[in-house]
Amino acid sequence: MSNIVLIGAQWGDEGKGRITDLLSSKVDMVVRFQGGDNAGHTVIYEGKEFKLHLIPSGILYPNVTCVIGNGVVINPATLISELENLKGKGINTDNLKISSNCHLIMPYHIALDSASENKLGLSKIGTTKKGIGPAYADKASRVGIRICDLMDPSVFLKKLKDVLEIKNAILKKIYGYETFDLEKIYNEYLDYAKIIKKYVVESTFFINKALEENKNILFEGAQGTLLDVDHGTYPFVTSSSTVAGGVFTGAGIGPGKINEVIGITKSYCTRVGEGVFPTEEISKLGDYIRERGKEYGTTTGRARRCGWFDSVIIRYANMINNLSSLALTKLDVLSGIKKIKICTSYKINNDIFENVMPNCYLLEKCSPVYIEVDGWDENIEDVKDFEKLPNNAKKYINTIEQLTNVPVSMISVGPDRNQIIIKDKNLKKKYF
Ligand code: GDP
Ligand code: IMO
Ligand code: MG
Repeated sequence: MSNIVLIGAQWGDEGKGRITDLLSSKVDMVVRFQGGDNAGHTVIYEGKEFKLHLIPSGILYPNVTCVIGNGVVINPATLISELENLKGKGINTDNLKISSNCHLIMPYHIALDSASENKLGLSKIGTTKKGIGPAYADKASRVGIRICDLMDPSVFLKKLKDVLEIKNAILKKIYGYETFDLEKIYNEYLDYAKIIKKYVVESTFFINKALEENKNILFEGAQGTLLDVDHGTYPFVTSSSTVAGGVFTGAGIGPGKINEVIGITKSYCTRVGEGVFPTEEISKLGDYIRERGKEYGTTTGRARRCGWFDSVIIRYANMINNLSSLALTKLDVLSGIKKIKICTSYKINNDIFENVMPNCYLLEKCSPVYIEVDGWDENIEDVKDFEKLPNNAKKYINTIEQLTNVPVSMISVGPDRNQIIIKDKNLKKKYF
């Protein structure tokens, strides 16, 4: 048995989709356990680009079952357009399963997300405006509508009627927004239900049965550790549990079932949206990294803020997630930079801290302490073996391992499926 959790160790967009795609060929099932269509996971395979928001990145393999677990919030319109998009590219989506317990993102959630962001003005979170926060808020307030409710038109109508009255009042009276028509939403969502119905399962039973049968499962995280609602840079976070612990509630399995947790981290660091980012490089070099790394959001197209690798953040991610290893992505992007900085600790006034709680007000007072290492000029996009990397690239990776105290198991040197170096010999023997 080998069940792997794959999570983002930074602020999202670390390359979770591409690593999930790589490991999917070795497992029977891929499960998403949190988030919604705020996620944007890009997979490049045989020159074709796939941008996945809700559907697990294992979908490109016909023999892999993909499950959207109960912890995910679903916008059915996005889901259906993603299904159509995949089918249009020749991908079979019959192996998709959707949890009957997933909460639905409703049109009023999207409107409320926008309204709240506009009202906050300069203090806004910088959300993806996909309705994620309002949908999870309704889940916690126990007024959310689930897929299982949608499957029963009379239950759906009653729940929608009750909640819409309140949402419309808030939209109109507090924000001065347009209200929504009950019948229109009802009919629109029943049309979605007809399409989605065949994919719906009781996912906790479905997943646990697969575990009993010794199937190998990969749990694909969305967002990243520092965007976690409990452990991230609150309030500049998303509204779900993005950390490894999220698997247990978001998929309905017990902790003993997990064998490995892989933290995906970029060789540098990016963030999209507002909030503190200690190693942000607001400079020509930051712009250079953005252009070279094509750092523009998969979901919103926004320019990602770019900066240096921050070992304080990764040590924290290791503590929260108990990382077995790191998958280091986008090392190729750093080729050609003469001196590469790595943040070792933070300075507050004259005191140095190696570990800091990512409280955003505290982090704002921190200035990063850097070491500088020599870069390399070589193009490394075709390197397949760790030993063949330029010496300075190897030193860079070794320094990251020492500073984070987590071994690097794989290194990606390009977006394509085969642009990968498997550094961990056991992993190589086991899977590759
Ligand atoms: P995710 O949200 O964590 O799945 O990451 P995204 O897909 O949002 O962002 C990662 C981006 O980097 C995507 O466009 C990938 O195609 C690309 N990418 C992933 N790994 C590499 C790599 O090693 N090198 C380069 N140049 N691009 C990569
Ligand atoms: P993947 O899975 C990067 C960020 C938003 C915003 C904050 C809250 O592709 O790594 P939300 O819409 O979730 O309420 O926004 O979280 N955010 C992401 N940033 N990658 C993501 O997903 C993100 N999903 C949300 O930019 O700062
Ligand atoms: Mg992304």
